[in-house]
Amino acid sequence: MPLDTTSHDVPVARTIFDMRELVARWHGAGEKVALVPTMGALHAGHLSLIRVAKDKGATKIIVSIFVNPTQFGPGEDYEAYPRTEASDAEKLVGQADLIFAPNAAEMYPTGYATAVSVSGVTNTLEGEARPTHFDGVATIVAKLLIAAQADCAVFGEKDYQQLLTIRQMARDLALPVEILGGPILREPDGLAMSSRNIYLTPGERAAAGKLNIILRETATAVTNGADISSATEKAKTRLLDLGFSQVDYLTVRDTETLAPIDAITKPARILVAAKIGKPRLLDNMAIEVKS
Ligand code: PAJ
Repeated sequence: MPLDTTSHDVPVARTIFDMRELVARWHGAGEKVALVPTMGALHAGHLSLIRVAKDKGATKIIVSIFVNPTQFGPGEDYEAYPRTEASDAEKLVGQADLIFAPNAAEMYPTGYATAVSVSGVTNTLEGEARPTHFDGVATIVAKLLIAAQADCAVFGEKDYQQLLTIRQMARDLALPVEILGGPILREPDGLAMSSRNIYLTPGERAAAGKLNIILRETATAVTNGADISSATEKAKTRLLDLGFSQVDYLTVRDTETLAPIDAITKPARILVAAKIGKPRLLDNMAIEVKS
């Protein structure tokens, strides 16, 4: 049965077949289709990616909502990950033209046996902390991109290493889709918006707001010539003093390869992953070369 695209609500496709049928119709009518992959629990950061797609000329927006089991490691929060499809759908009214919300059997049917694995940029940072994570991300994103046959897809710089991984994969596999990046949307105190911020207690939330400030101060210090290793060590100590229980990394890397660097001679990125209370918070920002 064709999807009902006449009501006020955003239509929901549960199968790849239904999504493709609608996308084929859109393409036939000359529309430019964008895919915004998410795991749901939508916030303004996710919605900002829709704006990026529209600014790039997309005329039809698909938001996928799928909590992808293969990117969660053992002991991570796959079961507990917030699933809020009804309120997500409300947030997308007037924003998206289709929600793609498959179940796990649609994406990984019985007998499913294929994985996509990107090396290089995945071997460090999140890849070290979560060894199976990027294979899960690359596999589901490849499948979503092929399923949707969209002209472009948008990913947030919030997950900077994920964005680089997906760019690499799309290039290597010659996927016929343009990969776009969107800037990090932040709360008023600068905390990067995240579906996992809801786990923070009020005290932890206050300390979490300092993460981006410390990152920015460290970025400025190294731009102005501070020694990278001592500046990042100082920042880690400040986070632990604030009540962060663990800093997995706080590091300055090459903006393209994520290789460690010891001087700012070309554009670099400062990236952090640190635990406070339940969540592990990620943040990153560009470090400009001083001319
Ligand atoms: P999820 O964590 O739901 O994020 C979906 C997209 O929103 C990602 O591209 C992420 O980088 C972006 N995003 C999250 N917070 C943001 C913020 N504060 N500002 C801007 N963009 C933000 O990332 C995933 O899901 C999954 O790994 C996925 C790519 C969907 C594959 O399963």
